[in-house]
Amino acid sequence: MMKKSISISILSGALLLAACNNIRREPGHVYMPDMAYSRAYETYDARDSTKFTEDSMHPGDKIFYDNMPVAGTIARGEDLPFPLAKDKPGDTLNYFASRQIQNPVPPLDAKDMKEAERLYLINCGICHGVALDGNGPLYKGGEGPFPAAPKNLATLDMPEGQMFYSITYGKNLMGSYESQLTRQQRWEIIHYIKSKQKVTTTSTASATTAKP
Ligand code: HEC
Repeated sequence: MMKKSISISILSGALLLAACNNIRREPGHVYMPDMAYSRAYETYDARDSTKFTEDSMHPGDKIFYDNMPVAGTIARGEDLPFPLAKDKPGDTLNYFASRQIQNPVPPLDAKDMKEAERLYLINCGICHGVALDGNGPLYKGGEGPFPAAPKNLATLDMPEGQMFYSITYGKNLMGSYESQLTRQQRWEIIHYIKSKQKVTTTSTASATTAKP
């Protein structure tokens, strides 16, 4: 009996010593990384999956989220992509080719037109003005903080495809609206601008005919 308990205590003492001596300085293998590390959506995370190296993060962690849609895919409910890419700096080929592209969105009914107006006022009115005259509060005839004169959209004689090109890719100091507005919304805003132009042209025409 005595012998047995002595041998047990020697054995457990030896085990304890072995455990203490062997301090692990490496993490173990992660065999379910998505449980060990969170797949959290890291907003504005610049981690580039192509430059990802094993030692750039926790060793063994191969999970990243680069939040870009797969190239060539189209989101559910989204229109077909604009067929023309953005011109390279100094080139204007596609900018002019875009004049041939027709607005794929059919004419808007009153409800959709109201929505297009709302989108215009939120995204464009600050520069181009509520009246589309290119004199929104950000420009204020040159006194506002914005340095460049926005185009007068009420009189702008530009094909709809070319407008779409500039709204999508930006034009000089005007930024791109590709990420803020869906393609459908951009085409709808163009319908709204054109409808306002029609009103302006008719009222000018009637004013001219009304003249003696
Ligand atoms: C921050 C100010 C600003 C906002 C907001 C803005 N624009 Fe502009 N926009 C400009 C300026 C400045 C120009 C003139 C660019 C140039 O030709 O140098 C311009 C030019 C344009 C043109 C003519 C492009 C061309 O090819 O000549 C169109 C069309 C246009 N804007 C539409 C829009 C629409 C639609 C929106 C809203 C989705 C919008 N803009 C929002 C400043 C703005």
